[in-house]
Amino acid sequence: MARDQLFPATSSSEPGFEQLPLDTTFPTYWKTLMSGPEMPLACLTDFQARAREHLSKSTWEFIEGGADDSFTRDDNIAAFKKYRLRPRYLKDVSEVDTRTTVLGEEISAPICISPTGFHCLVWPDGEMSTARAAQAASICYITSTYASCALEDIVATAPWGLRWFQLYVQRDRQLNKQLIQRVESLGFKALVITVDTPKVGNRRHDIRNQLDLKINLLLKDLRSPKEGNIVPYFQMSPIDPSICWNDLSWFQSITRLPIILKGILTKEDAELAVKHNVQGIIVSNHGGRQLDEVPASIDALTEVVAAVRGKMEVYLDGGIRTGNDVLKALALGAKCIFLGRPILWGLACKGERGVEEVLKILKNEFHTSMTLTGCRSVAEISWDLIQFSRL
Ligand code: FNR
Repeated sequence: MARDQLFPATSSSEPGFEQLPLDTTFPTYWKTLMSGPEMPLACLTDFQARAREHLSKSTWEFIEGGADDSFTRDDNIAAFKKYRLRPRYLKDVSEVDTRTTVLGEEISAPICISPTGFHCLVWPDGEMSTARAAQAASICYITSTYASCALEDIVATAPWGLRWFQLYVQRDRQLNKQLIQRVESLGFKALVITVDTPKVGNRRHDIRNQLDLKINLLLKDLRSPKEGNIVPYFQMSPIDPSICWNDLSWFQSITRLPIILKGILTKEDAELAVKHNVQGIIVSNHGGRQLDEVPASIDALTEVVAAVRGKMEVYLDGGIRTGNDVLKALALGAKCIFLGRPILWGLACKGERGVEEVLKILKNEFHTSMTLTGCRSVAEISWDLIQFSRL
């Protein structure tokens, strides 16, 4: 039986979950008893395979699914493999430093966590486990509007972690304002506005599975967190499809937080982002879950980087699975990358410890990629590492 059937997602404050020792949860415990220790997980796709065993079909397909034919979801991964690296040798790589900064804050490696909703679907403690793992790894965690734990609980459990908040703009302006002021006072350091979701993409698996998050998933009320109210999924305030470039000045007038736009894929929109004085862009196609048949993130990166001409930081998510992928994204101009599904795989396998392991494995791989290409610091990663003649 899958874990999410045994432990249906619920409020993180419900008594009982916090008492579950992570390693003795079914089915891990029984598997260990029956078949001896499980094989160590050596790479992110090992976590993917193991996570699949832990989750029900509908939860698995909710996480893995792309929109329509899932061309873009698959292309995100395949596109990285078109790029070949040009290693440089004899450079004394006895000391290799993976540290860098995002918006002036130091992180241990340019590997951070993208916003994904509903973490309680895959692990009882949900976003609280994710936040603790991100804090332990000294990286940035972008918390989703659709987090299934209260923002206050997420902050309380990992008070020193670097956090940004992702906003799906709500139709109700006042609700946006309350939410932004709330995250600002909770110490979130940036506002990430997702721009690629004026409407949710066609997720065929969810339709076939008649995925009904409202049966077992309750979200904290965005409106009145102090009363601890919860609202069923189907009553969530809908995303505002009318938001446009001119609305950004309203957001800038109500917050001091830097604003980052997530989901930009073209030079035209990148130029508009510069014109509207936002502080960052995440090149992303939502993991291929929104418009299908758009470019893979790594293929869109170059034109966005060229268009912003160094006027803001550019980040990337989508399809990052190995240290070489991270290196290629940085070589093509990303300041840092973000992980979506791999974090959920780690969480589904082992909760907080699983997320820590995913981050550690990728950081180690990235360290190896830097060492083997002759990069002693993140600042030394440049376009020269990419073999353009082959593309
Ligand atoms: C997402 N993503 C997403 N994006 C966002 O802005 N807000 C959200 O709440 C969510 N929720 C969400 C749930 C699930 C299950 C997935 C898989 C994705 C998109 C996410 O932030 C990111 O763009 C992609 O997941 C990156 O691609 P990879 O790393 O999954 O290949």
